[in-house]
Amino acid sequence: MTRLASITERPAGEAGQEVEWTELSSFSRDKRPLAGGPGIEDAPASADGGTCTCPAPAGAAVQVLRRGTGTETLEFERMRIMLLAQGDGMEVIRQELSPGTRWGLYPDPGSGALEMVAIVSGTLAWYRQDETVLLRPGDSLVAHPVREELSFQAKTSVHLLYFCSRPVFSLYSQQAEEMRAMAVAVEVKDGYTVHHCHHVANLSTRIGEEMRLSPDALAVLNHGAFLHDLGKVRVPDNILTKPGALTEEEWAIMKMHTIWGREMVENTIVAAAGPILEAHHERWDGSGYPHGWRGDRIPLEAQIVSVADSYCAMTTDRVYRPRLSQDQALQEIRQFRGVLYHPEVVDAFATIGSTADIFSATG
Ligand SMILES: [Fe+2]
Ligand SMILES: [Fe+2]
Repeated sequence: MTRLASITERPAGEAGQEVEWTELSSFSRDKRPLAGGPGIEDAPASADGGTCTCPAPAGAAVQVLRRGTGTETLEFERMRIMLLAQGDGMEVIRQELSPGTRWGLYPDPGSGALEMVAIVSGTLAWYRQDETVLLRPGDSLVAHPVREELSFQAKTSVHLLYFCSRPVFSLYSQQAEEMRAMAVAVEVKDGYTVHHCHHVANLSTRIGEEMRLSPDALAVLNHGAFLHDLGKVRVPDNILTKPGALTEEEWAIMKMHTIWGREMVENTIVAAAGPILEAHHERWDGSGYPHGWRGDRIPLEAQIVSVADSYCAMTTDRVYRPRLSQDQALQEIRQFRGVLYHPEVVDAFATIGSTADIFSATG
């Protein structure tokens, strides 16, 4: 089966450019052909003003799709997905990926679907165990069925055609809508801006890359980092926005946002990120919450988010204290290496800090 590209990164070869998370807050959907072309010729207009494509009317069985048009389009900041045609269980989808965008195909137990990716333009990297296979215009990749995770990354702007012998586009729409709804929920609560979620996700992903996490683990990390405080949606406003200190009882409720966050993603496409939401306040020495886990008992991805979130919080103005400078915050993180934070995560974080200006991206 296919899964939405989960993370995007700096364009390949452009060191120092900030990692970007684009999928969650930039989604839009359009059932009409894109502007600039007539779309599908000879097809009757549908009730919403779009263009109906199936079934084709008698005498108009042959349709022409002009460049840049599809029967349904999903738009993201760095990716566009167009359903070109569907019928007899087969779908043909055109995808346009910006440089650095990741995308993947995953096994779907019980499915024997034929899946094929054909490169129209650009260069797509397929990360295959220890080697990277570059796919260029005219190259195709066929799986029947997909038996293992296939991870791709656009090395340049890429246009590709994706064929699947069973319907997948509606799955795309559903996934995108779920992600968008969760992103909005995070934004409206606790005064958090999507910028904060972006920055924690970006920084976490950079640390994960530095630690050489697998592409799939990076995708889960990015989801978990972006949604780390999703559970605060269930915390009452009078506790969440209380100006003074919380009572013991209120604090106990606040801490529950970790557990609630995991529960909220349990039956969604980002369920794999649940343990990150649950453990992002655990600390290396066992002083965190909700479980007081210590050391390697805490999922590595959660420990990465812990460092990134702490850093972003330190470098942001709070009512009770002014922001720290980037250097001060980095020093504080290093000071608690092996105490509050996983030593290797701190080392990876410090390495990034010495080579890139990503630390300017906080908020
Ligand atoms: Fe939190
Ligand atoms: Fe946060």
